[in-house]
Amino acid sequence: MFTMRSLSHSIILLLSLIVLYSCTALEVKYDSNALIINGERRLIFSGAIHYPRSTVDMWPDLVQKAKDGGLDAIETYIFWDRHEQVRGRYNFSGNLDFVKFFKTIQEAGLYGIIRIGPYSCAEWNYGGFPVWLHQIPGIEMRTDNAAYKNEMQIFVTKIINVAKEANLFASQGGPIILAQIENEYGDIMWNFKEPGKAYIKWAAQMALAQNIGVPWFMCQQNDAPQPIINTCNGYYCHNFKPNNPKSPKMFTENWIGWFQKWGERAPHRTAEDSAYAVARFFQNGGVFNNYYMYHGGTNFGRTSGGPYIITSYDYDAPINEYGNLNQPKYGHLKFLHEAIKLGEKVLTNYTSRNDKDLGNGITLTTYTNSVGARFCFLSNDKDNTDGNVDLQNDGKYFVPAWSVTILDGCNKEVFNTAKVNSQTSIMEKKIDNSSTNKLTWAWIMEPKKDTMNGRGSIKAHQLLEQKELTLDASDYLWYMTSVDINDTSNWSNANLHVETSGHTLHGYVNKRYIGYGHSQFGNNFTYEKQVSLKNGTNIITLLSATVGLANYGARFDEIKTGISDGPVKLVGQNSVTIDLSTGNWSFKVGLNGEKRRFYDLQPRSGVAWNTSSYPTGKPLTWYKTQFKSPLGPNPIVVDLQGLGKGHAWVNGKSIGRYWTSWITSTAGCSDTCDYRGNYKKEKCNTGCASPSQRWYHVPRSFLNDDMNTLILFEEIGGNPQNVSFLTETTKTICANVYEGGKLELSCQNGQVITSINFASFGNPQGQCGSFKKGSWESLNSQSMMETSCIGKTGCGFTVTRDMFGVNLDPLSASKASVKDGIPRLAVQATC
Ligand SMILES: *[C@@H]1O[C@H](CO)[C@@H](O)[C@H](O)[C@H]1NC(C)=O
Ligand SMILES: *[C@@H]1O[C@H](CO)[C@@H](O)[C@H](O)[C@H]1NC(C)=O
Ligand SMILES: *[C@@H]1O[C@H](CO)[C@@H](O)[C@H](O)[C@H]1NC(C)=O
Ligand SMILES: *[C@@H]1O[C@H](CO)[C@@H](O)[C@H](O)[C@H]1NC(C)=O
Ligand SMILES: *[C@@H]1O[C@H](CO)[C@@H](O)[C@H](O)[C@H]1NC(C)=O
Ligand SMILES: *[C@@H]1O[C@H](CO)[C@@H](O)[C@H](O)[C@H]1NC(C)=O
Ligand SMILES: *[C@@H]1O[C@H](CO)[C@@H](O)[C@H](O)[C@H]1NC(C)=O
Ligand SMILES: *[C@@H]1O[C@H](CO)[C@@H](O)[C@H](O)[C@H]1NC(C)=O
Ligand SMILES: *[C@@H]1O[C@H](CO)[C@@H](O)[C@H](O)[C@H]1NC(C)=O
Ligand SMILES: *[C@@H]1O[C@H](CO)[C@@H](O)[C@H](O)[C@H]1NC(C)=O
Repeated sequence: MFTMRSLSHSIILLLSLIVLYSCTALEVKYDSNALIINGERRLIFSGAIHYPRSTVDMWPDLVQKAKDGGLDAIETYIFWDRHEQVRGRYNFSGNLDFVKFFKTIQEAGLYGIIRIGPYSCAEWNYGGFPVWLHQIPGIEMRTDNAAYKNEMQIFVTKIINVAKEANLFASQGGPIILAQIENEYGDIMWNFKEPGKAYIKWAAQMALAQNIGVPWFMCQQNDAPQPIINTCNGYYCHNFKPNNPKSPKMFTENWIGWFQKWGERAPHRTAEDSAYAVARFFQNGGVFNNYYMYHGGTNFGRTSGGPYIITSYDYDAPINEYGNLNQPKYGHLKFLHEAIKLGEKVLTNYTSRNDKDLGNGITLTTYTNSVGARFCFLSNDKDNTDGNVDLQNDGKYFVPAWSVTILDGCNKEVFNTAKVNSQTSIMEKKIDNSSTNKLTWAWIMEPKKDTMNGRGSIKAHQLLEQKELTLDASDYLWYMTSVDINDTSNWSNANLHVETSGHTLHGYVNKRYIGYGHSQFGNNFTYEKQVSLKNGTNIITLLSATVGLANYGARFDEIKTGISDGPVKLVGQNSVTIDLSTGNWSFKVGLNGEKRRFYDLQPRSGVAWNTSSYPTGKPLTWYKTQFKSPLGPNPIVVDLQGLGKGHAWVNGKSIGRYWTSWITSTAGCSDTCDYRGNYKKEKCNTGCASPSQRWYHVPRSFLNDDMNTLILFEEIGGNPQNVSFLTETTKTICANVYEGGKLELSCQNGQVITSINFASFGNPQGQCGSFKKGSWESLNSQSMMETSCIGKTGCGFTVTRDMFGVNLDPLSASKASVKDGIPRLAVQATC
């Protein structure tokens, strides 16, 4: 029987099905001016966070911070080498659970972007390729090669199937709105000639055939087959044009900083210049901007690429390696996102766009939509000349050199990339005495009886390439041979000469250490040491170590490591030479300590740690200590200064390689940093005359409540005397906000503002750490700030002269210098 009740029931059911459907499947389309998500025309701000570069516990906080920073989406690569360490055996657990990562993103209300590659570059070991690929007969990576294409297709299909099973694609109601295939191939394609072009066509077809229901893109691929969107990676992309005028203009990697190699200083990119790149991009019709990186994180284990990528992948990103905010960059970009979003309706659906050259490098770009709403960008391209612009009815604007002003309605300045209103935070690493005091060390020398006697399990009459033997199961490969001498006169004072493809090398002759050498830039180098040979059989033992396999360039996968081609020669008196290269060689992969898991809490066999006073400066030494977990919520680091080069583990979990003994150049750093002009990585460096990386992240989830174990494998010799545990806290926070701007001050990790060290609303001078009062100020500046902020984790308000009881009009007093005329509030506080 058909009752009203069942009718209404059916309607409700029908309605709820519609609601269910509409909040499940999202339709992602695009045109040249917008990404169109369920019919809504959008500009998208996205940021890269690579799931294996943090811990599962860190994900929700990182994603929430990204959302608070004004992002709409999170982007990540997929890391083939981690997921398929052994061919055909997949691992998606722990921080490799990318499904959970995308679910975390979705729960926060953000979109996801998946870059499957499966080549990822990313300063990641071997560009994300598993080394077993290299061993497949006839394989040639990233070209029209059947063996490679077969493996690539299997892996891409596997990842897509895992994603589909978890309903991760927007077309299934999931967060993923875009997907990438290949990666920056256009930059190296010329090397591969016609097969390269054929490969890209194949890759496109293979991806499209996966039917994921969201658009695909290729970075830096001018010939991207349609409908695949080609996109731009770089420091600036405003002059980029996609190869199809119907494609949206996408900045898939906006390099917000740069990575570091061992021996290099730390590069920084200013908040002003980062914002400039973004604003210029949207001024010129940009639709999508992805920060590379938004949180860089840590290269745990041996995941650092190479050669020589350091363990920290901080990248000077808006969220720092440990998860704290990098201010003012984070806040400045957040305000930028808010400002550009004010124009979203006009920018994504304009009917006219006009560039007006106002001279002196100044351009006014006006977007107008069908109902006459306007949105403007006013840019100054000159890297040394500030500009004053009179837009008549639309107002007068001071546009500093190398900056973009965003004008809401074309007549109201809502942002200028060079005027930083957001807070600056000075972070401090504080020694945690309860963890650090009285660390006692136990130690053990790497057992090497076998290798000192020349015994290895692999034999050959030639030198062999390192990764082909190790399959990258270890950084280390022993090369051993022997030479018979029956007249010592020519050999008591000889030279051992080794030409190696890198990266570091140790030598022993007849069990005696003869020294260490390393390549300057991670390529080939010559190792030469004086040796004294004895009459009879001499055993020569060489230990070669790689420090991250190459991840970039055409055929990077074929770059040789280890002693590979040699030669290895002995050069005696009167230049008599014995070439050992084709002698009897034996090889051993890895260290005994690795095999027996000395780094683990449950080693394979008992380890006789020696607790008597520890040796220092001795190569191949393992050290172990116990420490208490630092209290509180702040991130933890361990200071490894004093050690040489090696690898560190906390409670059996790797926190990465270290190389603290390599000191950077004394020159090339500066306290001040001019944001103006094209960025390059040599700009704004810090960390001169110090280790490239002194502090190593110890994620809280690696720790137990009480006691923990730190184990170090020291390769070249060091001293753990000064190892200490620190927490990174916010020490000083500052803001410098013009009238009308928004003050936002906050501590982190639950800390509260304890004092206001400086507050002046007027014309204060100087910068964070050295503010000074100017010629006038509101007398209640200090009390106003104390009342608003003390005892709170953060405080914020729009700065007006009324709230500071100021009614003078400095604007009219100094029209000539409008910048100096606008009153502002400078505050410095302690958390
Ligand atoms: C899978 O990966 C996780 C995270 O790296 C790791 O903890 C785990 O040991 C791996 N499992 C296997 C079987 O290798
Ligand atoms: C875009 O502009 C057109 C007129 O040019 C208008 O009809 C349409 O409603 C606008 N779309 C959106 C999503 O605002
Ligand atoms: C930590 O130890 C150092 C040196 O032993 C000492 O100077 C400092 O005051 C201690 N800090 C705390 C908070 O106990
Ligand atoms: C050792 O002596 C023999 C005979 O004196 C000679 O033929 C041979 O070349 C010598 N070997 C070396 C390594 O010098
Ligand atoms: C070197 O050793 C050989 C035997 O191996 C012996 O015949 C020869 O006398 C030795 N020479 C010297 C200088 O000791
Ligand atoms: C030592 O070197 C000289 C010069 O090359 C050579 O004449 C001599 O035979 C060498 N001695 C031996 C034992 O090889
Ligand atoms: C490294 O290899 C290149 C090319 O094979 C060669 O020209 C150069 O001399 C080598 N450098 C060293 C230090 O061996
Ligand atoms: C290598 O070892 C074999 C026997 O194991 C021996 O006959 C040969 O002479 C050795 N070659 C060299 C160059 O030492
Ligand atoms: C510890 O090392 C010292 C110094 O090398 C040595 O004398 C002692 O025998 C070692 N103890 C153990 C238990 O191995
Ligand atoms: C440890 O620190 C002290 C004090 O700064 C310094 O004198 C000493 O050289 C350091 N030791 C090492 C091994 O770096």
